[in-house]
Amino acid sequence: MSVLHRFRLRRRGGWLQSPFVWALGVACLLEITFHAARYRVPVPPRELDAPFYTSCQEPVTDGPRENAAIVMLARNEEVEKAARSVRSIEERFNRWFKYPIVFLNDGPWSDEFIRTLNASTSAPTFFENVPKDQWTFPSWMDKNAAQASIKSQGDRGILYAGKETYHHMCRFFSGSFYTIEALKKYKWYWRLEPDVEFSCSITYDPFVEMARHKKVYGFTISLWEEKRTCPSLFREVSDWKEAQGVPSTALWNAGVDASWVPWPFRGMMSWFSHRDSAGDGWNLCHYWSNFEIADLDFFRGKKYQDLYQHLEHSGGFYFERWGDAAVHSLAVNMLAEPHQVHHFSDIGYRHDWYYQCPANAPGGQLPESTTLNEAQSKWADEIPGGVGCRCDCDGRRNRNHATYCLDKLKAPNTANRPLSTWLLSFIF
Ligand SMILES: *[C@@H]1O[C@H](CO)[C@@H](O)[C@H](O)[C@H]1NC(C)=O
Repeated sequence: MSVLHRFRLRRRGGWLQSPFVWALGVACLLEITFHAARYRVPVPPRELDAPFYTSCQEPVTDGPRENAAIVMLARNEEVEKAARSVRSIEERFNRWFKYPIVFLNDGPWSDEFIRTLNASTSAPTFFENVPKDQWTFPSWMDKNAAQASIKSQGDRGILYAGKETYHHMCRFFSGSFYTIEALKKYKWYWRLEPDVEFSCSITYDPFVEMARHKKVYGFTISLWEEKRTCPSLFREVSDWKEAQGVPSTALWNAGVDASWVPWPFRGMMSWFSHRDSAGDGWNLCHYWSNFEIADLDFFRGKKYQDLYQHLEHSGGFYFERWGDAAVHSLAVNMLAEPHQVHHFSDIGYRHDWYYQCPANAPGGQLPESTTLNEAQSKWADEIPGGVGCRCDCDGRRNRNHATYCLDKLKAPNTANRPLSTWLLSFIF
């Protein structure tokens, strides 16, 4: 076929008759399919992350404990909200297990706070301070430029981003939290915030179970991150991952939305936010870090601390408003194996307006237990499939947020995935 003839074919709208166009189309489709298949999350043969217990246990009040603390960052003026959280965890868990509670403040504690909080629990309490140099701008940073950026972020209405201390807090929880003197002696922590509520009894020791099952990170709720708080975070993390040659786990892949743009144009997508250098995107899913039960040594380890230093020096804790939840989540998904992450589906938890509240396990409520009855003598209906212990959800059920992120982040551990999720994970 002469060049001229081909040209005429095209002029007559004969694009579709050109074998070249067809071959190109098929090649693109194949390329996209192969590319997307690299991010496929395999379905395990059995459930890898079941709840540790799916019914009430008789609390073992004198059993062996892990080296762990409950840790709360709070301010004097939050005394009431802080006390509510501590009373809630006391009523539902710590009255039996008596893990020490470490309170952290960026300023000096008031007598009232110490008195009230100490009286809210039967466990030992410690009132500590965040080291001054951890609650300010890094010394190398242009403070005026950072403050100007914070003001502009606030003016643009980015969630909490106009508050300087919020940036300090996110940075603190992302990095130096793990290395401060007050927490040095502990291996495990349970992060507690003012104004949270536990709506089920936790009648076993989650630290002991985390250790026994070789977990490093436990969560209750997962959500989408606010897009505008972290336009360049994913790129920084994935660049570090690439530079260090860290292989992609199924959990990392579960957080990536493979790009549909064919090679060689895919790379151009990396110009957009929340994309890695290859042009693939982060689905913004993260563990909501105001509840965390985790291994401090994981975050103290060289890999995590190197990553943190890399992020710190990019300036994103101030020139954007990176949250510790997003930072922890991306790091956990990169550096931990999927089976080391645990979803506490049996723990009823509320913070702000989001909650998770499981149904109660039928026949699993130990109605005769005097120990449990002293704490909680009434509870919501027992429903088949329920995994909770004496949950009282005030008529609320399960959770009040989309399960998209939970399904995504649990995908590497979930054998009986809903068909739709499974198909999606197969195709993408
Ligand atoms: C808390 O109260 C207990 C019992 O009254 C007391 O022994 C302890 O010293 C108090 N702790 C603090 C930090 O005030």
